[in-house]
Amino acid sequence: MKSVKAFLMLAIATILTFTVSARELNIVPQPTYINIEETGDYVVTAKTRVILDVAHPNPAYRFVEDLSHIYGVMKVAKRGKGITLSVDNSLHNEGYTITTTAEGIAIVGGSEAGMYYGLQTLRQIIITNEGRVPYGVIRDEPSFDYRGAHLDVSRHFFSVADVKRYIDILAAHKLNRLHWHLTDDQGWRIEIKAYPELIDKGSMRKETLIGHGLEPKWWDGEPYGGYYTQAEIRDIVEYASSRYITIIPEIEMPGHSQAALHALPWLGCQEQDVEVWTMWGVTPEVLCAGKESTYTFLENVLKEVIDLFPSELIHIGGDECPKDRWKECEHCQAMMKAQGLENEEELQGYLVTRIEKFLNGHGRRIIGWDEILEGGVTPTATVMAWRGAKIGAYAAEHGHEVVMVPLPICYFDFYQTESREGEGLHIGGHINFEKVYSWDPFEGISEEARKNIIGVQCNLWSEYLNNLKMVEIQLLPRLGALSEVQWSVDRRNEDTIRQKMESMRKFYDAYGWHYAPYYFEGRK
Ligand code: ACM
Ligand code: ZN
Repeated sequence: MKSVKAFLMLAIATILTFTVSARELNIVPQPTYINIEETGDYVVTAKTRVILDVAHPNPAYRFVEDLSHIYGVMKVAKRGKGITLSVDNSLHNEGYTITTTAEGIAIVGGSEAGMYYGLQTLRQIIITNEGRVPYGVIRDEPSFDYRGAHLDVSRHFFSVADVKRYIDILAAHKLNRLHWHLTDDQGWRIEIKAYPELIDKGSMRKETLIGHGLEPKWWDGEPYGGYYTQAEIRDIVEYASSRYITIIPEIEMPGHSQAALHALPWLGCQEQDVEVWTMWGVTPEVLCAGKESTYTFLENVLKEVIDLFPSELIHIGGDECPKDRWKECEHCQAMMKAQGLENEEELQGYLVTRIEKFLNGHGRRIIGWDEILEGGVTPTATVMAWRGAKIGAYAAEHGHEVVMVPLPICYFDFYQTESREGEGLHIGGHINFEKVYSWDPFEGISEEARKNIIGVQCNLWSEYLNNLKMVEIQLLPRLGALSEVQWSVDRRNEDTIRQKMESMRKFYDAYGWHYAPYYFEGRK
């Protein structure tokens, strides 16, 4: 009899152990180390106190805010028991440990950001596990310093509330950069006080292309626009910063500038009127690189940009700049001659280098799309490798810091299933969760050059995304896969990711974030 009872107890303990372990592992992105003691859970309730580190109060308040839909207003205190927070500078700057015992949960961050990431992990456990946090230890730190997502607000505009919600989603996946694509051919979206025309004229287009075809019926006939005031931008920068996200603003130059050319025609080689573009793709209308007035314009814009954005890196675009206009422009040709430049690619290099010097003089550094390599830019420029991982490898081997965003892996505007069934209209391509998850950002890069790969980012181009719900569906759940590449590249596990994403799905539901169903349905 005794042995039957013992057997039953052992069986129950085994089941419990399995349950506890299984649920405990469901953290995305995967932490470095998890050790669970199978002896019980600390249960977080509405009465649990959050004991802040007085020198670093922000993470505690963010945490309480992020759980308010479950717990109401949790009490934040300066001392006592509950969830305690502190900093230990000996940890990785963005790393943390979580130690859970019957006494409470102690989170130690390598910095305030580390503390915040520890709280993100705790939030996932609480939400997906009914507040039960197993006793044990979690230690964690990120693989990459730069963990980004891009958002194109030119092709379609997203409100301040939308951008904040986007930031919330990034923060929950432990991303720390938002690359904000603020200007392009189809709309200028940032208020620049020196040139009010940029928003008065450049933020509106006549209509929007809603199909892939070119017949007139494919345009919607509706004027479309939007922009952020400088006060709104400051508000968003502050919102992101309190979630440990640096916003990298992008001001496109010298291509992808037709909206600016509409506002200020003297920026072009021919100074003729052009409309804010109503096509998607690459327009020949670009900034004149020969006239001094263009450089003055760019510097005046960037002066306001650096006043608004504390980011050390400022994105200067640089992609897809056709040289047709420059070839026929007396100013551009004169500039090439005066500077001893062999061809128009070198003229672009001259522009980029001049702007780089200007920004360096203001304590900032440039990042640009990988075409900036073609004009002979020096390794002081950070390269965003989009035209393929090989270009990223080339840049890294040549001493540039590189953010990997290669086609097609990082293009989250692409379709998510082969059949495209039920997906609506998108730009093209095909990238599913599995492809993102199994991507090796170091492929083909020497051991020596790997240190130059500072990070990874997904790009959300918005030609066919005209509301935030659509953006979220393109972002999730693929961001779950990308966040493991960014945060835990060497800790990915094909065997457990599906179970973890099922848990993440509960987390997304808790916040009402939209996600694509395909991965969960087994559709590739
Ligand atoms: C890009 O996708 N044109 C950078
Ligand atoms: Zn010109």
